[in-house]
Amino acid sequence: MSADAWKRAAAEKAIEYITPGMKLGLGTGSTAAHFVDLLGQKVADGMTVVGVPTSEATKNQAEALSIPLATLDDIPFLDLTVDGADELDDRLRLIKGGGGALLREKIVATSSDRMLVISDFSKRVETLGSFPLPVEVIQFGLRATLQLIEVLSSDAGCEGDIAVRKSREGKPFITDNGNMILDCSFGRIDDPEALDEALKYVPGVVEHGLFLGIADHAIISGPDGVVVLDAEQIEIAAAEEH
Ligand code: 5RP
Repeated sequence: MSADAWKRAAAEKAIEYITPGMKLGLGTGSTAAHFVDLLGQKVADGMTVVGVPTSEATKNQAEALSIPLATLDDIPFLDLTVDGADELDDRLRLIKGGGGALLREKIVATSSDRMLVISDFSKRVETLGSFPLPVEVIQFGLRATLQLIEVLSSDAGCEGDIAVRKSREGKPFITDNGNMILDCSFGRIDDPEALDEALKYVPGVVEHGLFLGIADHAIISGPDGVVVLDAEQIEIAAAEEH
């Protein structure tokens, strides 16, 4: 099976968790797109749900499928957000933002009662950081922001190349919010919480792609089948080990 087929399988499992009347956060990326596609089928079959999209791309897809949409101003509290991830570890800590939508994704996920991550097995890692950490920054003072990120990340044990993300045309990539993305190739992030704290000190940082303590469940699809992980169960198991 291809990576895309695994992504589809995870989305198919996720759709089983959707019940009529749910207020849903709709993620961004190719895995989330499978979920939105399947949700569109449910809506076409008569299910009533309302979705809050995390990007213009997802909004366009959902509109084309006639999924009823709202904003967080209309409904500031959602039942469930379903979204993909670039990496997830065994504690359901995530790196997100490969698609550049991390800010809206984090706002929507934290406005939801629960967040469900869907992914293929290649995203599961022991230590976060092989995937360059996306950091959304304002355009003003870009070099100064980059330098401060370098210094404070190093204090948090993370060093590596930090690059301005470029679009396919070779121009700086601009997010839906009018900001830029710095991709931080740290290789490994041994202490994501320390890095999270460090990045909060940088005024030019709008948000970063570490999702810590946000995901409640994960559906991971691969050759061994579909695995459902639950953050609460993982915490209980970890507490029992100590
Ligand atoms: C977008 C994201 C995506 O969820 C992440 O990049 C995974 O993408 P895909 O499902 O295409 O592998 O965070 O900002």
